[in-house]
Amino acid sequence: MPEEINRPFSFDVIREEDVTLSTYDNHIKRSLSAMRNQYHDEQAYETLLREEDCMLYEVYEVKRPEIAGELLQGISIVHPGKVGDEYFMTKGHFHSELGTAEVYYCLKGEGLMVMETPEGYWAIETLTPEKVLYVPPRWAHRSVNTSRDEDLVTFFVYPGNAGHDYGSIEKHGFRKLVVERDDQIEVIDNPKWLPPEVR
Ligand code: F6R
Ligand code: ZN
Repeated sequence: MPEEINRPFSFDVIREEDVTLSTYDNHIKRSLSAMRNQYHDEQAYETLLREEDCMLYEVYEVKRPEIAGELLQGISIVHPGKVGDEYFMTKGHFHSELGTAEVYYCLKGEGLMVMETPEGYWAIETLTPEKVLYVPPRWAHRSVNTSRDEDLVTFFVYPGNAGHDYGSIEKHGFRKLVVERDDQIEVIDNPKWLPPEVR
């Protein structure tokens, strides 16, 4: 078989106390300092950051060529915790190639996927073990861990040519935030969200 042939391969999801993959190419760690301006309580953010630049989430990536036809896969692990009353979450992004979708399969934990289109339509879906979530083309997505003490672990698959646009969300935010109020999970309006007409 010629060397340039793409060979099929498989790997295992290792479900020990910390979920990992048997094979991966990249282990990304994102800490609090990477999330400036994303949490609504700026004072709580600065206070927590002064104490410790704690780890919010990790991603294990299985790399493939970043071209149409390929699929990129991996697991995303959002740790439990809050900044003020707002749960730990991923940065969130649109795919640069806006017409590309993504599938998430929840392996562990409890959380929400917060989604939004460039026009400002929003949607939220629950993530619990064994749930499969389809994020259609054009929807920005952010995972939020709403559990008290457990990691939120999801397996994801998306097209190789998707790319990531983080800048749009950094600039205008997500329309909805997920907070804890009186021991309940609540979805509230983001006071800093910029609607499409003023961007
Ligand atoms: C890839 C994807 C996930 C996220 C991961 C971390 O397109 O949606 O793999 O990359 O959950 O979140 P971000 O990338 O928003 O920091
Ligand atoms: Zn994505």
